[in-house]
Amino acid sequence: ELNFFFPVEHTLATIKPDALEEHRDEILEQIQGTGFTISQIKEANLSREMAEEFYKEHKGKPFFEQLVNYMCRGPCLMMILSKENAVQEWRSLMGPTDPTEAQKVSPDSLRAKFAKSILQNAVHGSSNGEHAMEKMKFIFGDIDLDRIVHESFGETP
Ligand code: TYD
Repeated sequence: ELNFFFPVEHTLATIKPDALEEHRDEILEQIQGTGFTISQIKEANLSREMAEEFYKEHKGKPFFEQLVNYMCRGPCLMMILSKENAVQEWRSLMGPTDPTEAQKVSPDSLRAKFAKSILQNAVHGSSNGEHAMEKMKFIFGDIDLDRIVHESFGETP
């Protein structure tokens, strides 16, 4: 069984509204070119309440209101990305939060190429496995992750 040696991990990935409008195809190409399987995908218009819940870890920080407004500006693309070490791999494909930093340390990253500022930074990804599980459930409901792995490998569970 391949997955015994190469365990597939899942993470929640988001293309934020301005980046989705302006760079959808380029970002999706880079995701697939880096070996991720897009196991689930949907556009979502987040309500204020949903955006506040999505970023609840940042409630009370000076940028929270702006962040919520930004996420509600238009549709986001929500995805479950699957790959070995997916949480970290997606974080590294995104690059650092601040695009100025991203351009210095990771010029091929999505934020180096497509982020406009530390706020309008194009993409989101869960920072650890626990957050990934929580956000995948929040956006996609009670999906069976073992089943989506089999489906992405074209097998019948
Ligand atoms: P954070 O979780 O620190 O970064 P990351 O998205 O890289 O995990 O912050 C969440 C979002 O909040 C970030 O993507 C953009 C916004 N933000 C600001 O607008 N200003 C800031 O100073 C920080 C740290 C974040």
